[in-house]
Amino acid sequence: MLDNIKLRLEDVHKSFGNNIVLRGISMTVREGEVLVIIGPSGSGKTTLLRCINILERADSGSLVLGETAVNLHGISKKQILEIRRKTAFVFQNYNLFRHKTALENVMEGLVIARKVPEKEARKTAAAALARVGLEDKYDAYPLQLSGGQQQRVAIARTMVLNPEVILFDEPTSALDPELVGETLKVIKNVAKDGVTMIIVTHEIAFAAEVANRIIFMDGGVTIEEGPAEEIIFRPREERTKQFLKRIRPELSYTI
Ligand SMILES: Nc1ncnc2c1ncn2[C@@H]1O[C@H](COP(=O)(O)OP(=O)(O)O)[C@@H](O)[C@H]1O
Ligand SMILES: [Mg+2]
Repeated sequence: MLDNIKLRLEDVHKSFGNNIVLRGISMTVREGEVLVIIGPSGSGKTTLLRCINILERADSGSLVLGETAVNLHGISKKQILEIRRKTAFVFQNYNLFRHKTALENVMEGLVIARKVPEKEARKTAAAALARVGLEDKYDAYPLQLSGGQQQRVAIARTMVLNPEVILFDEPTSALDPELVGETLKVIKNVAKDGVTMIIVTHEIAFAAEVANRIIFMDGGVTIEEGPAEEIIFRPREERTKQFLKRIRPELSYTI
């Protein structure tokens, strides 16, 4: 299953004014693979995910996603819709509709974007919420849910759309520490289904467990990439070692 390439990014550049944020990022993600991106704050991780989903327009570079190949700068409206249909974004702050229930939040994309009949959408949404452990929360509004529960609603909302790739941007960084575990468990379960994922996270233990491959990014470039056990336990690059030591002082490397 991991042999087919699902997503390929080639030489992506992005600046905001004089601030050069992405300096030629390339990466390949295979079908069913979980790619984790780590790196210091400000290194361009969010910008990279936003360029993949075309929430942000790259200055140059190309993207192949399944059968769709686009020039990220000159992309047409039709291609943008195509890429958006194939990807789903899980945001740091969940971004749920506050005036809709959990069930309505999950149904929304199915009914509006996919034109699924309401009755069928309701059934699909209910099943997805049950899968993330929220079968007793269908009628709850976001404010009645914990952060971890809201993030699980957000994950259910992306799952029902059957995206080819799910992009997670620090999905647990807004959560209280005791709610992180339940959310990571749900993401691990989604990964087991063989969905292709790109996950930006600072949860190193989780990354070690779930990632097929890890990319360490700094200053808008890829510094190092490889299997989780290599990048986390035997990093080669000085900057990777320094970063990991900073967030996990208990890891010791010979520097
Ligand atoms: N919409 C934007 N407008 C201007 N600058 C931005 C915008 N988004 C991000 N940046 C800048 O891009 C750099 C990288 O940010 P970001 O991609 O959020 O990094 P990370 O997610 O790795 O912390 C930062 O210097 C940030 O200020
Ligand atoms: Mg970010």
